[in-house]
Amino acid sequence: MGGYSSPVVRLKGKQMAAVPEIENAYLIVEDGVVKDFGKMEDLDASLCAGTADTVVEDLTGKYVFPAFADSHTHIVYAGSRETEYEDKIRGLSYVEIAKRGGGILNSADLLHVTSEDELYETAMKRLHMCVEGGTGAIEIKSGYGLSTEDELKMLRVIRRMKENAPIAVKSNFLAAHAFPRNYLDNHEGYVDLIVNEMIPLVAGEGLADFIDVFCDEGFFTVEQTDRMLEAGCRYGLRPKIHANELALSGGVQVGVKYNALSVDHLEHIGQAERDVLRDSETMATALPGAAFFLGMPYSPVREMIDDGLAVALASDFNPGSSPSASMKFVLSLASIKMKLTPFEALNAATVNGACAMGLGGEYGQIVRGKKANFVITKPMSSFAYFSYAYTENLIDKVIVNK
Ligand code: NIG
Ligand code: FE
Repeated sequence: MGGYSSPVVRLKGKQMAAVPEIENAYLIVEDGVVKDFGKMEDLDASLCAGTADTVVEDLTGKYVFPAFADSHTHIVYAGSRETEYEDKIRGLSYVEIAKRGGGILNSADLLHVTSEDELYETAMKRLHMCVEGGTGAIEIKSGYGLSTEDELKMLRVIRRMKENAPIAVKSNFLAAHAFPRNYLDNHEGYVDLIVNEMIPLVAGEGLADFIDVFCDEGFFTVEQTDRMLEAGCRYGLRPKIHANELALSGGVQVGVKYNALSVDHLEHIGQAERDVLRDSETMATALPGAAFFLGMPYSPVREMIDDGLAVALASDFNPGSSPSASMKFVLSLASIKMKLTPFEALNAATVNGACAMGLGGEYGQIVRGKKANFVITKPMSSFAYFSYAYTENLIDKVIVNK
């Protein structure tokens, strides 16, 4: 299933409802790329003459769909934050924990005393967990460094991951994730540091594809975001930002102003934001794992799709608000909590996820000439069963190529 006749740039509104399904299909892969697919009865025998090392698999009863394109993660981090998890259980909010110096600053302290090699090892383990869960392309952010030295350390870890991972990796520079302790009373000073020192260094070393800012109440203002995105764009870093998780922050508008590839979170979104997004090339990315874990309202994605927007889904895998690699669970949350159909959720997590990290041309669809990146399920009665049975391990095999 999931065979498109030609590459789709991105799907918006009603287009997200359909996934072209082929029952009783054949699928031929050569050199890591989709060579052909179609109905078994139309299979041209000469196409599968093969060579001595050709592998033939019978997938009767199983589903094959594009591997997930997880366009928003923070998988390079040190330690974990389950003490805060217990604080949350006792009633503290994400913002209250951050205000006490916990949260992102807690992860920054741990990262500071962790070596590049150790960060690389633990992050690669998480990346492999993502792949086992069906992810075939991933975006990874910095943002637990919060100093020039430690942000560069994180980005170098991501560069090594790019080189060695079995899947495509995109790197996002997120120094503007929180104000570090030494700038708590000098916010503009930290923004100056990012603009004048970090961005030129990061771009100079070619360490990032994108620039990110946590534009939200209690974090970075629209004016600060504007300055950093303007500088990032000047240095060739396309914005892809955190916006409107905690409030109607103005993050959507400033993201679209700089032609952001995506604006992510969007738990708070009104008509003005939807109108701005509809007329833009910016993907609206929802992260239901964070809303689930933090007990926050879910992004109103149903309304956004009904309003004609293009929506992507990502895991937000991170130690503070979404400690989970599972895109399968993201699909379940999208359907159960956000009322997306299973097909809409699949499109959001594959083709639109790929577009949300600039990989739309090669990933996220089963189409001739695109990367052979698939999830093969165990036998299932329908595709909907995959996210309906939300704790059942239904992945038989993941095939990835980059
Ligand atoms: O996307 N909202 C900001 N950043 C992350 C959380 C990071 C953390 O708490 O460590 C997010 O949810
Ligand atoms: Fe995030």
